[in-house]
Amino acid sequence: MSKSNVYIETYGCQMNLADTEIVQGVLTNKGYELTNDIKKADVVLLNTCSIRENAEQRIYGRLGNIKTLKYDKPNLIIGILGCMAERLRDDLVKDKKVVDLVVGPDEYRRLPEFIDTAFAGEKGIGVKLSKTETYDDLLPYRVDDDGLSAWISVMRGCDKFCTFCVVPFTRGRERSRTLDSVVNEVRELANKGYKEVTLLGQNVNSYIDNGRDFADLLAAVAIAERTIRIRFSTSHPQDFSDKLLYTIAEHPNLCNYIHLPVQSGSNRILELMNRTYTIEHYLTIIDKARQIIPGVTFSTDIISGFPTETYEDHLATLEIMRKVRYDGAYMFKYSPREGTKAFRMNDDVDEATKSKRLTEIVDEQQKISYEVNQELIGTETEIMIEGFSKKSNEFLAGRTDTNKVAIIPNHDDISKADYIKVKIKRATSGTLFADIIEKVDIKKESKQKIA
Ligand code: SAH
Ligand code: SF4
Ligand code: F3S
Repeated sequence: MSKSNVYIETYGCQMNLADTEIVQGVLTNKGYELTNDIKKADVVLLNTCSIRENAEQRIYGRLGNIKTLKYDKPNLIIGILGCMAERLRDDLVKDKKVVDLVVGPDEYRRLPEFIDTAFAGEKGIGVKLSKTETYDDLLPYRVDDDGLSAWISVMRGCDKFCTFCVVPFTRGRERSRTLDSVVNEVRELANKGYKEVTLLGQNVNSYIDNGRDFADLLAAVAIAERTIRIRFSTSHPQDFSDKLLYTIAEHPNLCNYIHLPVQSGSNRILELMNRTYTIEHYLTIIDKARQIIPGVTFSTDIISGFPTETYEDHLATLEIMRKVRYDGAYMFKYSPREGTKAFRMNDDVDEATKSKRLTEIVDEQQKISYEVNQELIGTETEIMIEGFSKKSNEFLAGRTDTNKVAIIPNHDDISKADYIKVKIKRATSGTLFADIIEKVDIKKESKQKIA
């Protein structure tokens, strides 16, 4: 089976994207070839997401599509990886007979074995969750090796059990990779010419390796490779320490950008969600962060229409958005997930109300993002060039430290991965348009030192 072609599609969060790179590493080590062309594939894998009903529906739709490939190629192996594998294994194997392989997020080491089982005509099923698996020693295989940006999962699983969320069930218990292995991976990426790394976990603030916490990890990575810009996601408000804020402030290559999901502006709803913080506590973190890290920006996640959400609760969500003035937000309608605590609550906010509230939330964010960006006009900032702008080769697109897309005119002396100091001249809610000032060296960038 050693020359089989594998085609992989990835859905869901950044951690799934990082997992796909682990899977690619495992498979290429065993002699599998990767292909971008599904028609050339002997094995088709979908790395799936269960976070909301519509995520699963979309993947089921895609499966229906892929199934037709079997008419021409009866030996084609179709497999489901990721969170749906964990949640829907029986449904996938028994009812949707098209699936030959179901492998959950902690069993990727054994994927080649399961593929062999499937080639031998049996179902390849591996859905055990592990308390220890971190793939610490496995080298991810980055196909879209643009040499610019990479993800690194620094921990797996989640122990928070927010009442709406499937992740603790599909990903299992929280566990961290070793600090040394993360630092080594960042060093290797830097040697290959990478310029940006995002450290990932469902709740990076509970990272722990031998007494070293997430702030220690960030500092270690930042010091190890000053040429690499470091982002991280996601922070849970409960474990957000002052130490983390001071660490971000201290190191020039740690981005001044924090994704801090609030979910709702109502303390009553936050309690029902088991989010374990109050809005007051949340606002304290935001205030402190703004004091300690000049220029820090925030994004968030919001769920609209959680069980029992009243109009007043909804107004409280709009209010927290106006108070914080997020630079961006990911906004969702509540979707009941079987097995979660909230699933047993009455999903009593009707669809039309959920949609109406979500629209109001999206409109509010749009307005805030626009205003926040207008305030940047005339200011100077540094961006890292990622390539041509989507619309035209006459422009280049880059990203600010605060994760905003900025567009500048193309220039012969500027190429991908360069750091450019720019002056913002115009802005929409999603994009900054800027003039070039000069090329800069990330190592020379300096931040105000605090403490
Ligand atoms: N670990 C991260 C988020 C993981 S899921 C955190 O705690 O912030 C990403 C986002 O999906 C969540 O923040 C939440 O806003 C949303 N989400 C999760 N479950 C959901 C559900 N059942 N319905 C709607 N949105 C949901
Ligand atoms: Fe889900 Fe909450 Fe864990 Fe985030 S922290 S993954 S929302 S349970
Ligand atoms: Fe989806 Fe699983 Fe990520 S449910 S959001 S792919 S952890």
